[in-house]
Amino acid sequence: MSELTIALTKGRILEETLPLLAAAGIEPVEDPQKSRKLTFETSATGVRLLILRGSDVPTYVEFGAADVGVSGKDTLLEHGGSSFYEPLDLQIARCKLMTAGIVGQTLKSGRIKVATKYVNLAKRYYAEQGRQVDIIKLYGAMELAPILNLADEIVDIVDTGNTLRANGLEPRDKIADISSRLIVNKASMKMKHNQIEALIDAISVAVAENAGMQGAA
Ligand code: PRP
Repeated sequence: MSELTIALTKGRILEETLPLLAAAGIEPVEDPQKSRKLTFETSATGVRLLILRGSDVPTYVEFGAADVGVSGKDTLLEHGGSSFYEPLDLQIARCKLMTAGIVGQTLKSGRIKVATKYVNLAKRYYAEQGRQVDIIKLYGAMELAPILNLADEIVDIVDTGNTLRANGLEPRDKIADISSRLIVNKASMKMKHNQIEALIDAISVAVAENAGMQGAA
């Protein structure tokens, strides 16, 4: 077996990906949620995990610093391009990418201001809608921007909708359904084909079992 490096992010993706990796016989030797370390050896010889910032996962996989990664579709859409393979929808960390604005307020015609951390994605979306926008890059707490008149709309992740409601906002248009995806470096897919195919197969089975359990619940 060759060496294999898998890039993950802390939080919900890590929590929900670890059982899928365990089904493929890959378990970190210590709990990444409880450690400040950024690399972890696993129960599978030569397979190690990297714990990265979410937006860095596509970059590590694109340039082959990691062979495989798990990344939210929102992050992949923002990263753009087709510089890696995306062979599997893990069907975890599901939510929606939406536009949102102040409850009951109709959007003015003409050029609008949009606050988001998804700058590239938002530019593409509003261009497709034929809307002229000024994008304002924020790193968090997007929901404040319309209230403080910094923006007419925001583009952000919506799960329960609680954050929008708590800040006097309402969801408007759905841009995309989001879930976590397995991504694979193109050269690794060739060079480590058997190993990565086996990983994808084992994880696919675990994903299907999860889906079955949700359907039965
Ligand atoms: C996301 C998003 C919203 C919130 C939506 O933030 O930015 O603030 O979740 O969830 P809800 O619809 O269930 O209220 P997250 O907690 O992921 O942190 P982030 O700001 O770092 O993205």
